[in-house]
This record gives sequence, structure tokens and C-alpha cells, in this order.
Amino acid sequence: MSAAKKEFKKITTNSLQEMKRGHEKITMLTAYDYTMAKILDHAGVDVLLVGDSASNVMAGHETTLPITLDQMIYHASSVIRAVDRALVIVDLPFGTYQGNSKEALNSAIRIMKESGAHAVKLEGGREVKDSIERILTAGIPVMGHLGLTPQSIYKFGTYTVRAKEEEEANRLLEDAHLLEKSGVFALILEKIPAQLATDVATQLSIPVIGIGAGGGVDGQVLVTHDMMGMNTEFSPRFLRRYLNLYDQMKNATQHYIKDVKAKNFPNSNEQY
Ligand code: KIV
Repeated sequence: MSAAKKEFKKITTNSLQEMKRGHEKITMLTAYDYTMAKILDHAGVDVLLVGDSASNVMAGHETTLPITLDQMIYHASSVIRAVDRALVIVDLPFGTYQGNSKEALNSAIRIMKESGAHAVKLEGGREVKDSIERILTAGIPVMGHLGLTPQSIYKFGTYTVRAKEEEEANRLLEDAHLLEKSGVFALILEKIPAQLATDVATQLSIPVIGIGAGGGVDGQVLVTHDMMGMNTEFSPRFLRRYLNLYDQMKNATQHYIKDVKAKNFPNSNEQY
């Protein structure tokens, strides 16, 4: 018989570390607005990520690069107002932390102060070490992100699996250790071979959360709009769709149009 899992009333960065130690998988989804965040928090997801994927999902940009710090703060404060239990982590958007560590600290402080978020996330390894360490001096928890880092898409050229070759895999492993040493409380690994992700999760004591990184890591994250099937154009192998909301919402909309056109809506009970 397995021991009962601890109930976490409010998730903190320490809770995630406890979950790793207790072999309980961590659940994480993206949220960019109040209504969606409320549903996901009530469902019991551990972590909500206000991802810069809002640039694609909410604004229709091709990449995550155009979203601004002000826009991230707007999304994050909407999410924070909805949440009772989940830990809310916010992406530092492209161009707000790579310049120098002072700029990174100022950006992280603005996110924490203006949105009420609990932690920030940024992409990269050794090249952002100084920024991570400076943000940590202000008492702001930082999550790392390695593997496919979408803010570097113009360097990679494609969204294909990263670190398949030994040299890149070794560099990723080194960066993961370096980020842990720098003090990040957790790490995202995106779209890398499952064995490499398992090795990272086994070697590090901080929680490692994967997207397209197999089942050997400490938790999973997906973009909510993708897992709910609101998006029909994005079908990577790692994506499991739990709903087909695109079709359901399209059908509901067509039903509404039909009712209004046929003078079936509103009926006598739906008016004053
Ligand atoms: O912005 C985002 O949604 C992310 C996840 C894909 C991890 O960084």
C-alpha cells in the first residue's frame, strides 16, 4: 500500500521541491487570463505559467518575440486575481533580461510588483547566469528553461527536437548543473530526447518539468489552448489533446447563429 500524498493547500516553490522528493509528479499549464486561470486553479493544477506563448496564443504572432513586458504584466495580473492555490510563474519576455543583469533585475521586479506573481522564468544557460544571480539577490525565485527555447528561434531556424547530438546534449547537461548551482528553484526542459531529460532530472535535486521531454522528469507542462484542442494547426508528437474545443466552440457558434437568424433566440423566457 502506498503512503497517502501530502495535501498542499497553497503551492510554493518549496512544495515543488517536496513533491520531487516525495516522487509526486508536478502538473503545470499555461494561463493568460482570469477565467481560464480560475478553471485550472479550481481543477487543482499545481503551477500556472503565464508564458510568453501568449504572444502566439492570445495575440496571433508567429513567434514569442514581440510580446512586451507591459503585456506580460497585464496577463499575469489577470491570472493572479483568479488564483487561490497554484504557484504563478511569469515569463520574462524577449529583450528584457539578455542585455545585462541590471535590466533583468528591473524587469523581474516590475513583474513581481505590478502583477503579484510568485516567480519568474527565463530562457537560456550560461549566457544568462549573471541575470539569474542578480534577480535572486532581490529574493525573486527564478525558474530556468533549456532545450528548445522559443525566444532563440531565429538562431535555431526550426522548432525541431534539440540536443540530439552529443555536443549539444553535453552542453545542456552542463547548463542544467550550472543553473541549479546559480539557485534556480526548478527547470523546464523543452523538446529534447527523453533519455537526456531523465538524466537531467535524476542528476539534479531541483524539480525538472518537461514539455516534449518524456515521462522521466518530475512534472509536465502543456500550453492549455493546445491540450484543450482549441488550436487545430499545432500537432507535435508530444501533445495530447484532452478535448476538441475548436469543434465544440465552432458548433456552438453555428448553433447560436442559426437560432438568431431563425428568430429562435431569445425566446419569451430569455427576455424582460
Ligand atoms: O511560454 C510558454 O508557454 C512556455 C512553455 C511552453 C513551457 O514557455
